[in-house]
Amino acid sequence: MATKELLTDVQSLQGTIKVPGDKSISHRAVMFGAIAQGKTTIEGFLPGEDCLSTISCFRKMGVEIHQDGNYVEVISGGIDNLIEPREVLDVGNSGTTIRLLLGILASRPFHAVLVGDDSIAKRPMGRVTKPLSEMGARIDGRGNGMFTPISIRGGNTVGIHYHSPVASAQVKSSILLAGLFSKGITTVTEPALSRDHTERMLGAFGAKVHRDGLSVSVEGGQSLAGTHIQVPGDISSAAFFLVAGAIVPNSRITLENVGINPTRAGILTVLENMGAELTVSNQRELNGEPVADLTISTSSLKGTEIYGDLIPTLIDEIPIIALLATQAEGKTVIRNAEELKVKETNRIDTVVTELRKMGAEIEPTNDGMIIYGKKPLHGATVNSYGDHRIGMMLAIAALLSKTETVLERSEAIAVSYPNFFDHLQLLCK
Ligand code: S3P
Repeated sequence: MATKELLTDVQSLQGTIKVPGDKSISHRAVMFGAIAQGKTTIEGFLPGEDCLSTISCFRKMGVEIHQDGNYVEVISGGIDNLIEPREVLDVGNSGTTIRLLLGILASRPFHAVLVGDDSIAKRPMGRVTKPLSEMGARIDGRGNGMFTPISIRGGNTVGIHYHSPVASAQVKSSILLAGLFSKGITTVTEPALSRDHTERMLGAFGAKVHRDGLSVSVEGGQSLAGTHIQVPGDISSAAFFLVAGAIVPNSRITLENVGINPTRAGILTVLENMGAELTVSNQRELNGEPVADLTISTSSLKGTEIYGDLIPTLIDEIPIIALLATQAEGKTVIRNAEELKVKETNRIDTVVTELRKMGAEIEPTNDGMIIYGKKPLHGATVNSYGDHRIGMMLAIAALLSKTETVLERSEAIAVSYPNFFDHLQLLCK
């Protein structure tokens, strides 16, 4: 486990960077390529640990995958060519890998065992194992199939209409992937719209997906065809530099080629509501995903309220939004975000505990947090607890501190942003 002395007392951030590829889209490109017939080529792939876990799991099921940095080729004979893995499938820290993979395995007439790291072992898997079992997959695991290790023997699944209690793209995607290879129609209805990369990308692989409000359906018996995917930059990674640019004095940062899919772009709405100097330019589309360049400058910010349908569109950005709020005039209230408790860490606890160590005035609530703004931050020894987004948030917080700040478990950042510290160094003037 690594400990890192963070950059502190930074006077200005200036420059242009391209953040790494979108994590959600990179996972899906590999997975859909692995179950499609023919060759899939992926440009802009995120070579972070989570997406490498996805590649490793599919290689263990006989799929030919060549990865060289941001470029990936997946060569497959289609879903029927997946073979029973001889080894345990290790998803590492990746919730997207395990939940979507379970959906794919639900229709496969073979056995597989899935494990992950200590964080994965605490995360709820019942949200997918329950509906997939209803579809006919035989699943068992610790705590009656609720937690890893999980074993699955799929096959002969039938479509269901699932009303998900949570707005979760992992749940939605898992069930839809099972539905593509099941009998009849599978529909998922969610309480609010979660990220829709699965629906968009399945279209690019030639599958038919039908959306009706908060419901999305697929017909069983479909086959996918290999294609070319260009992955946009990850708005969840861009978020750290958007906030850095807004709160560090004398700053102006441009982030090129960032995905701004409306189901992911809640942070842009929050920045605007808080009065940030943000411009969105050069808007275009990559494989059905909207993309733009984002420029942020040091801003005078005011507190805001974040709740309701906005929450799923910025769920991964709440740690860095909490830091943003510590530098805004007045109070920021985040509500309806209980999902934070089941992320890589309990992010209500970890955000509040670590920002308090640096002098922030922040209170946990049952479904979010309240931040009292315009508080100077000071140095401390802080901890990512193995959560990449907590680690990056603390590294941005440290930029404002006048005194030494040390990050424990800094290695976690490689999960989604392997060159994060290089980019930060590049922007520091
Ligand atoms: C993801 C969905 C979100 C998000 C995660 C990635 C995905 O999780 O937090 O980082 O790629 O589908 P939930 O679906 O559990 O909300």
